[in-house]
Amino acid sequence: MSGRGRFITLEGGEGVGKTTNLDWVAKWLTTRGVEVVRTREPGGTPRAEAIRELLLDPCQSEPLNADAELLLVFAARAQHLAQVIRPALERGAWVLCDRFTDATFAYQGGGRGLDHHRIALLEGLVQQGLQPDLTLLLDMPTHVAQQRVDSRGQQRDRFEQEQNAFFQAVRDAYLVRAAQAPERIAVIDASQPLADVQQALGEQLSHQLTEWL
Ligand SMILES: Nc1ncnc2c1ncn2[C@@H]1O[C@H](COP(=O)(O)OP(=O)(O)O)[C@@H](O)[C@H]1O
Ligand SMILES: [Mg+2]
Repeated sequence: MSGRGRFITLEGGEGVGKTTNLDWVAKWLTTRGVEVVRTREPGGTPRAEAIRELLLDPCQSEPLNADAELLLVFAARAQHLAQVIRPALERGAWVLCDRFTDATFAYQGGGRGLDHHRIALLEGLVQQGLQPDLTLLLDMPTHVAQQRVDSRGQQRDRFEQEQNAFFQAVRDAYLVRAAQAPERIAVIDASQPLADVQQALGEQLSHQLTEWL
């Protein structure tokens, strides 16, 4: 496959299986002859990963202001776009990213309650019209996803320490985004056994590939 690469994002709340399925999607594409650059947000470059640390640090002694959180997310994104995403797409590689701006609308918009217009303003400033070509939204009830987070057995980060009302607001905001952009965002039932989730992902990818070729 030649020309400009495609930009695919995996989205969803904590524990829905984004990181687990990123590997699988990368392999699916690679076996079809696509050069895949796997990355994640916030992060994806050394400086952007340093911003990620600031965002995820549960440090209780100083709360993180919601506007500061939003600006840090977009600062990391600007760096990631400049260093990794745009160069990869320009040389024809496909970029597969664990979270992108839909997560900002879900977490900082839905979860923190920030005005969507302000997020959209920063989106325009930083992305200059660049949008994912396809977004795979892994969706499931938040209480089940929380059990998965616990089963992972790692210490909870600043977002994972939130309460269920926050996770519910994040999920609702993701579903609103999906309803607003049904041609870009495919909603996948992530509560299914992994094999069924992956079958659904494969079906979406096959469908997209035939459209793009
Ligand atoms: N479909 C599934 N069914 C059961 N467990 C799953 C499924 N998908 C992922 N998991 C498990 O749930 C946990 C969270 O998955 P992970 O990929 O880390 O989620 P995320 O990156 O979205 O936070 C992991 O322990 C993973 O092995
Ligand atoms: Mg993950």
